[in-house]
Amino acid sequence: MDRDGMKKMKKVILYPLSAIGHMNPMFHVAEALNSKGISITFILTKYNSPNPSSFSTDYSFHFIDDGIAAMETPPSNPVAFLAALNSNSRQPFRDCLESILGSEKGEKSVACLITDPLWVFTRAISEEFGLPRIMLHTSTAADLVILSSPDVLQHDDYPVFPEIIAMVEEVKASSGLICNSYEELEGPSLNTLRQNINIPVFPIGPLHKYSKTSATSSFLLKDKTPIIKWLDNQPPKSVLYVSFGSIATINKAEFEEIACGLANSNQPFLWVIRPDLVHGSENSQLLLEDFEEKVGERGRIVTWAPQQEVLTHTAVGGAFIHGGWNSAMESISEGVPVICMPCLFPDQKTIARHVTDVWRVGLRVDRGGIERGQVEEVIKRLMGDQEIRERLDEFKGTADKCVSHGGSSYESLEKLCSFILSL
Ligand code: UDX
Repeated sequence: MDRDGMKKMKKVILYPLSAIGHMNPMFHVAEALNSKGISITFILTKYNSPNPSSFSTDYSFHFIDDGIAAMETPPSNPVAFLAALNSNSRQPFRDCLESILGSEKGEKSVACLITDPLWVFTRAISEEFGLPRIMLHTSTAADLVILSSPDVLQHDDYPVFPEIIAMVEEVKASSGLICNSYEELEGPSLNTLRQNINIPVFPIGPLHKYSKTSATSSFLLKDKTPIIKWLDNQPPKSVLYVSFGSIATINKAEFEEIACGLANSNQPFLWVIRPDLVHGSENSQLLLEDFEEKVGERGRIVTWAPQQEVLTHTAVGGAFIHGGWNSAMESISEGVPVICMPCLFPDQKTIARHVTDVWRVGLRVDRGGIERGQVEEVIKRLMGDQEIRERLDEFKGTADKCVSHGGSSYESLEKLCSFILSL
């Protein structure tokens, strides 16, 4: 049978970690594989899950109970939260997988499970059912190089906790690895990674280029029209987009300094203030007395933004982010220069270092002791830096090319599909 004929019969089961920064890239992987004729079945935990109707394509969905809803409040400590998610999800995941595979009636059309290595329990379960696993790493290849190196325990930026050690073992024990990266961006790190983990590595990024929007935005944001309309009224490349991802928090003093820096910069801005952004505050926006009056129409504050659409809007000329890999990749590969303020996980420091020193597509501020004058200055520097902007035009060109026919990520996706068909 030819490859096209085989592909129609092949199905993959995707099981993303239930955090927005891990779900978005997995949804993009689904789009990429589905565009090649592979059919998609999702297993999602109930926590954070989008409505199946937010997908334009015909995927199958299975929802399992992660027990998070029964907790009074999800733990604010991400490490404890990850441990709870893992221990709550193991049995429901196993039962769900058994039921999906049982309904196949001997056809054996499920080629593999594609999952997140931070689910640290899937190895034994997939072995029980004879199902190969492919991992999706949602941060940089450089991050996984550090984590898979023997001296990671001595690395100052990387406080290593048990799930992280287990995560690297999960990657090494899997059949292959998908990276949200591309050869032209991280070639040397990808090569080192291949040596460190000794399994096939498929850099098919930038992943967001496979979808027009992220499915998670549709359940976190009822109507994106007012935001887009506001952007439509701003001059080209004038707006600074400010967002610290889906889980990072800052303290009240940092929040106030950023707010004053933004106000004093005189730059139009769109700021995502999630209700839980400020540590210990129930509704962070309430902390901004008089702020909206002071900045007037120049500043727009929202609780969530359609980030992909925002970053490709002609009015946006810069992004102030925490250095989460999705946000960094969604910005630089769309030609948007960034200010990185690492907030939470160790990879954010590595990403900030690459942005400033390796790719030279942005600037960095340190969160500790951040003050308004510094925020104002770094915004002015970023928005006025013509060299960075020109470099980013090239970045965008390369990123667009590599997912197009014949590009490095396009070829890598072809190889990934052939690999899946061979399993
Ligand atoms: C985290 C890590 O920081 C990241 O490095 C890791 O690989 C995945 O988990 P998070 O901190 O949430 O994720 O940040 P980021 O990686 O930037 O992901 C946030 C996602 O939410 C992005 O895809 C972004 O487009 C989306 N988002 C964020 C929105 O759509 N709207 C918003 O208002 C904010």
